[in-house]
Amino acid sequence: MKKILVTGGAGYIGSHTIIELLLKSTYEIISIDNFSNSAPAAYDRIRQITNQNFRSIQLNLCDQNAISQNLDALENIEGIIHFAAFKSVPDSVKDPILYYHNNIESLNNLLKFCERKNIPNFIFSSSCSVYGNADQLPVTEQTPLKKAESPYAHTKQVGEEIIEFFCQAHPQFNAVMLRYFNPVGAHMSGLNGEMPISKPNNLVPIITQTAVGKNSLTVFGNDYPTRDGYCIRDYIHVTDIADAHVKALDYLVQKKNKTNLSLYNLGTGIGVSVMEAIASFEKVSGLKLPYTIGVRRAGDVIAVYADNTKAKSELNWLPQYNIDDMMQSAWKWQQNLEA
Ligand code: WQD
Repeated sequence: MKKILVTGGAGYIGSHTIIELLLKSTYEIISIDNFSNSAPAAYDRIRQITNQNFRSIQLNLCDQNAISQNLDALENIEGIIHFAAFKSVPDSVKDPILYYHNNIESLNNLLKFCERKNIPNFIFSSSCSVYGNADQLPVTEQTPLKKAESPYAHTKQVGEEIIEFFCQAHPQFNAVMLRYFNPVGAHMSGLNGEMPISKPNNLVPIITQTAVGKNSLTVFGNDYPTRDGYCIRDYIHVTDIADAHVKALDYLVQKKNKTNLSLYNLGTGIGVSVMEAIASFEKVSGLKLPYTIGVRRAGDVIAVYADNTKAKSELNWLPQYNIDDMMQSAWKWQQNLEA
């Protein structure tokens, strides 16, 4: 059976993607994770939701020897979906070298592995943060990239360039780079969701933790040049992101790609401000969310949201969930965590 390796498969987007792969495809799935920002319990949640099994290997992709010893013996690998990376904007501002080492070294090692094993297909987890403060909105895949606003965003810009040159050097290697906007929410069953090991930095898990008294929300800045003074983002349900990976894999395996490097925005195309996101949560939860207004956060872009027509037409992908669905699923997950 053809194998698909999913790096970061115990993580937030990785675990939701394995769920969709198990339910919608017939590949043998192997998750690779070092649990630096996740836990093996994610695998139990995937099995509970899908009632299917899959393999997992614990290793750090920055360790070339670990890759050789644990992965080189694998045969019939049809593709790799590469999620494993650190992804916090503020944490990357605090410790840039940690981010450059982890996110770039792991990618380099993985591409060397692809070269050794002649792996034909590769899907790369990129980010809308590569656009920086774009001159025009919504951003298309052709929108020129501005200077990265954080080391995290820069690791994604560099990662995309590494893959671009690797594809030029290896015409038989096919890559899709997916620029996620803001993945949020949880599996609609309420049985899987975001489970960061350390305190979350992202808005939605802080909202739901604040709602149960485990955190306190500070809104970072209310003086931005936007319609209501708050930063605007394109929040997209994690299962819509996961579905796009299944479709991107099919696109490559069925050789629908016209060139060996493809790039897609994964967003809803709808910009939502921080205050509008809070209002959505209050609507679906029936709660009044306490928060304070603080100063701007270093590394934040003012506004970014997607033109997603390319992914819709070429990957046959269509986001299914709106901001209320995202908040509803995130809240259901948080309540299950408290149960
Ligand atoms: C969103 C907005 C904050 C926390 C994320 C991921 C990154 C990438 C893009 C995938 C900003 C504000 C937040 C808080 C706040 N995803 N906020 N108070 O920074 O846009 O980036 O999505 O690759 O990996 O980090 O998301 O949720 O941190 O912030 O006011 O306590 O919410 O200022 O305007 P961000 P975020």
